[in-house]
Amino acid sequence: MASVSSLKSSNNLVPLFSSSWIKDVDCFKKSVLKYDTNSTLILYSSSTEFLLSDISGIKIKVKEPTFLECKSIIKQTESMTIDTIVAIGGGKVLDVAKFCFFTNLRDVVFSDSIGSLSELKQTIESKKTAQLIACPSLPGAGSESSKVAVISDIDSKYPFVFDSFFSDEILYIAPLYGQLKNRQIVIGLFDVLSHLMEGVLSPIAPFIMKQYAKMGFQMVMDIFKRHMQGESFNFQDIMVMSSLAGYTQSFTSVGLLHGISHVLESHGYGDHAFLNACYFEPVMKYNSEKSPKVQGLVSALDQTVDEFLGNIRCITERFKIEKPVVNGPDDISLLIAKDMCTRTNVRLVRQPDIKNILEIR
Ligand SMILES: [Fe+2]
Repeated sequence: MASVSSLKSSNNLVPLFSSSWIKDVDCFKKSVLKYDTNSTLILYSSSTEFLLSDISGIKIKVKEPTFLECKSIIKQTESMTIDTIVAIGGGKVLDVAKFCFFTNLRDVVFSDSIGSLSELKQTIESKKTAQLIACPSLPGAGSESSKVAVISDIDSKYPFVFDSFFSDEILYIAPLYGQLKNRQIVIGLFDVLSHLMEGVLSPIAPFIMKQYAKMGFQMVMDIFKRHMQGESFNFQDIMVMSSLAGYTQSFTSVGLLHGISHVLESHGYGDHAFLNACYFEPVMKYNSEKSPKVQGLVSALDQTVDEFLGNIRCITERFKIEKPVVNGPDDISLLIAKDMCTRTNVRLVRQPDIKNILEIR
């Protein structure tokens, strides 16, 4: 098994966001109660419900980030005047909050006949009439600090990117993170690492965003290293890295790794972060064969590509993160090759190479 001892250490990140760190449930309730409960809408997921007892006001549970769900929420809030949205939960809740209340969706969705999202897509515009308070529950794509929302409809997933989607405030709620198991955190961190890695390698990224992403990439590897050496996770470090990933992602693109996870998750092979964790190593290996950018990213850690890949394998083996057996359909590698994420990969992707990565025989 490979060692992670050669990774570089970085400074602790705690002071950076300490003013937004909510240390207990009462502290969270006090933070939310400072808003006018008559005009504040709280959107939440089932796993965050325990935070809401004793808080009055308008509360709606979000299940999935679908167009159907968005229409239902808009219908429920049609007659309300809302000036603050508190979104508690991971990317799903934030995607719905952004799409419902930071676009003109409320204006267009009930005019004429309600079409599919593909029909309405061209009429969706940025519109900000409330403030967004984001309370992320997991490390991952950092939706709380990104201007991206992804909404599903029956035919596809639709990404929307608007400046109005940036949060006005982020509350990191400690009791949410205390519930997480180490394996969940590691898998979430792989999604963070995937966004930072693909951000650095993005062909469309501005220089400064690549530098931020590179800094985050090194820091996440340092978090992994310290955990593998026996340290407990520091949630403040982790959530700051997640938010950095979301911010850089707003100005960069993803690549083959997200192409694989998007297609496989829609075919029931596992959730997004898990699939990114499974395929991180083979995709890095594949890209490193042709891209000096990958070698440059890894050498910033004072490692060779082989040492780096060994370190990643060490982490996935420790936490029993194993690639699913992909049986098809036969055209799954073609779907990945055509996926819009794959199209901005740092290395031009060929379909037979995808079959090799997925180990389709
Ligand atoms: Fe992701």
